[in-house]
Amino acid sequence: MRLKDRVAIVTGAAQGIGAVYVKALATEGAKTVIVDIKDCAKTEKAVKADLPEANVMSQTCDVSDETAVQNLMDTVIDKFGRVDILVNNAAVFASLDRKPFEEIPVDEWDKVMSVNLRGVFLCARAASPIMKAQQYGKIINIASDTMMKGTTHFAHYVSSKGGVFAFTRAIAKELGKDSICVNSIAPGLTCTDVMEAEEGFTPARFDRSVSARAISRIQMPEDLAGTVIYLASEDSDFVTGQCIVVNGGDNLY
Ligand SMILES: NC(=O)c1ccc[n+]([C@@H]2O[C@H](COP(=O)([O-])OP(=O)(O)OC[C@H]3O[C@@H](n4cnc5c(N)ncnc54)[C@H](O)[C@@H]3O)[C@@H](O)[C@H]2O)c1
Repeated sequence: MRLKDRVAIVTGAAQGIGAVYVKALATEGAKTVIVDIKDCAKTEKAVKADLPEANVMSQTCDVSDETAVQNLMDTVIDKFGRVDILVNNAAVFASLDRKPFEEIPVDEWDKVMSVNLRGVFLCARAASPIMKAQQYGKIINIASDTMMKGTTHFAHYVSSKGGVFAFTRAIAKELGKDSICVNSIAPGLTCTDVMEAEEGFTPARFDRSVSARAISRIQMPEDLAGTVIYLASEDSDFVTGQCIVVNGGDNLY
């Protein structure tokens, strides 16, 4: 129960990796807010089934909408009185088709940037005054190892995640004096419930990343949970502005 009495928000948690972060945070005792543009009932039900004592709530919110994000923070303050941990996980990802950058429509580029980068900015900006008043906070921004690899045919996504990395550095410097830590995590290709549910799914989809890894197996959402808990807990109170790559040692050089 390393996060007992802490209040955590996880965006993009209706499915995929975010739902696993919610369970990990609730397991450590955090009061956890499940946020997504989609209905979060499935995640909430699953957490309550596994952890009947867990204090979790769901809130629908479009993280790219300034007013909606402010309403989210107000609701969390009304309900729980504080915000200690913000996991900026929401992204346009699973729904994106890969294509050469010349073929990316401008509105698709803008959509990816508005959720993946502006969403992180808006959520951090709305949480910041609360965390400053507390003189304590943990902002964890989910990037991707694609930003270092320059993964092809995914230029908008890769660029948005590079922006998340850089934004993390910049605001870590601004918020350090208020004892607010801001770090990012760069996961490798991770097999999620969404991918497994896709028509024609086979584990062969992961062959290339598995063979590139020092630890050569498929990465699962649970592989990321320990790093989120570390960055959310007091164990990392002197760690800020960092990016932890969690990908089983893919592309070590
Ligand atoms: N799965 C991977 O291989 C992988 C690898 C590296 C990084 N990541 C990153 O990890 C995070 C989670 O990945 P995932 O595989 O679970 O992705 P996912 O696409 O399955 O889930 C993303 C969630 O974000 C939500 N979302 C989208 N737009 C939103 C908006 N405007 N407001 C609020 N919520 C919104 C979606 O509804 C969805 O529930 C993402 O940031 C992704 O970029 C994933």
